[in-house]
Amino acid sequence: MQVIKTVKALQQYLAGKRGLHNTIGFVPTMGALHQGHLSLVNKSADEQDICVVSIFVNPTQFNDPKDLNQYPRMLEADCLKLKSTACDVVFAPDVKEIYPDGKSNQQIFDFAYLDHVYEGRHRPGHFKGVGQVVSRLLRIIQPNALYLGNKDYQQLLVIKQLVKRYLKLPIQVIGCPIVRENDGLAMSSRNMLLSPTQRKDASAIYNTLQLVKDKAESLSPEQLIQLAYQNLNKVKSIVKIEYFALIDAQTMHPVDEWNNQVEVRAITAVQMDHVRLIDNMQIN
Ligand code: PAF
Repeated sequence: MQVIKTVKALQQYLAGKRGLHNTIGFVPTMGALHQGHLSLVNKSADEQDICVVSIFVNPTQFNDPKDLNQYPRMLEADCLKLKSTACDVVFAPDVKEIYPDGKSNQQIFDFAYLDHVYEGRHRPGHFKGVGQVVSRLLRIIQPNALYLGNKDYQQLLVIKQLVKRYLKLPIQVIGCPIVRENDGLAMSSRNMLLSPTQRKDASAIYNTLQLVKDKAESLSPEQLIQLAYQNLNKVKSIVKIEYFALIDAQTMHPVDEWNNQVEVRAITAVQMDHVRLIDNMQIN
């Protein structure tokens, strides 16, 4: 496994591999890797010849400077974890490599509805920053396929839109299953910021999603949402429920009545003190 820090060196490496007709799978990350990331690496390595993992804490997608400062950075430990996978290259650029003309010199992507609801509403500018960095990484790496976790479900839809509608690139965007801890908590780099009590309480997010799924046959969408709020409100460490919604998995429009033709996902974001956690589950 190689660790490459510059765009030039990465492109030289990839040109050699492409010349030998290798396909390239790409897993973008912000580091602080966990089993969820490693499952994406394994899937990429199963399906493509070369696996590139980027580790870059992208400053333009943080609307809260405190969140950016406290985001865990641990390149060495991440590389150690990746060594035990079939990752071929870690691309770990610094900010200047990705934003050589400064961070404000951005091509603006407009994700319309997706920019204004749920994550878009609670983290203004977040998806513009995600669009910005992913478009740059894709232009640099030019992969055949991009592997993303379903945990950031809205991000997955945003990136699908970015690739198809704006960049018009022939890249497959592949959403992969959420990997969970033993108590159901979705794996996330932010989990390490939780206190022991918060960490214990955080399993309530999964339990609530599972309860909603279990009750979906007997309750209306409105009743399910009420039930979810009741459940989450009981959890001491949850200081705010930003949203809990049932959405059409294709469009993210809210679902207010059942229709067998529509795949429905329950999505939620909660705050535990200064840590924000998101999760979702397919419920039909
Ligand atoms: O999901 C993430 O870790 C980031 O949003 C991504 C896709 C690596 C872009 O910075």
